[in-house]
Amino acid sequence: MERKKITITDLQDKKRDGKPITMLTAYDYPMARLVDDAGIDSILVGDSLGMVVLGYESTVGVTMDEMIHHSKAVRRGTKYAFLIGDMPFMSYQISKEEAIRNAGRFMKEAGCDAVKLEGGDDVLDVTRSILNAGIPVLGHLGLTPQTISKLGGYKIQGKSAEAARRILEQALKLEDAGCFAIVLECVPDEVAKLITEKLRIPTIGIGAGPHCDGQVLVTNDMVGLFDRFVPKFVKQYVKLSTLISDGLKRYKDEVERGVFPDQEHSFTIKEEELDKMRKR
Ligand code: KIV
Repeated sequence: MERKKITITDLQDKKRDGKPITMLTAYDYPMARLVDDAGIDSILVGDSLGMVVLGYESTVGVTMDEMIHHSKAVRRGTKYAFLIGDMPFMSYQISKEEAIRNAGRFMKEAGCDAVKLEGGDDVLDVTRSILNAGIPVLGHLGLTPQTISKLGGYKIQGKSAEAARRILEQALKLEDAGCFAIVLECVPDEVAKLITEKLRIPTIGIGAGPHCDGQVLVTNDMVGLFDRFVPKFVKQYVKLSTLISDGLKRYKDEVERGVFPDQEHSFTIKEEELDKMRKR
């Protein structure tokens, strides 16, 4: 069957049909191509960029310009997946005008299909404004890394009935505002299940168990390219850091021993051309 570009309707139809939505992050052209070729439904240019690619301590320092730069590269490598740009900290909190302008940059400059915002009540108005400007919004509740300081660290959210109910209420409000789906990060399985059942729009879980309508992981975590720390919910499908490390060490060793480059990896010139060159 001919592959078509994924749309919001395709993602929402998957919820209706009980088919899991797949989402992964990407931050550059080669990884975007691999993720897209693997048939993943949606690519998120997450602000996790800051930690897994740029080496920041948290996502708080990531700038709009950095996000746009990387989103453009991901766009060039993405043909079919639904592409979402993650709005970085302070790109949507200052004013509605600034939020719309920044969301618009993801669409106009980077060619994204939608943007993602972290938060509930605190971002409802701004979410509505971005939606009114014609830009689809993916919500993000539970553990919201941009406000980690306020949350008191990377902790599971919604562990008490009251906290769980609050996440549900915020999810319903985001749905009401017009979000096309909501990421649920680090909430107990049962809480994610209940929220998923109550919402008409899809939930995309990360550390939220198997009952969400879809799953997202940070690609660099699941391919073993980032091991400063590996959260409990991450399954490492390959360990690229070991493979890359081995290759780098072999290269060093072969150059130092004069084994590389060999004939196979070198160019030659015809003998008569070489003679002429010598005579000059
Ligand atoms: O920045 C990111 O990669 C994210 C995902 C973890 C959902 O927000």
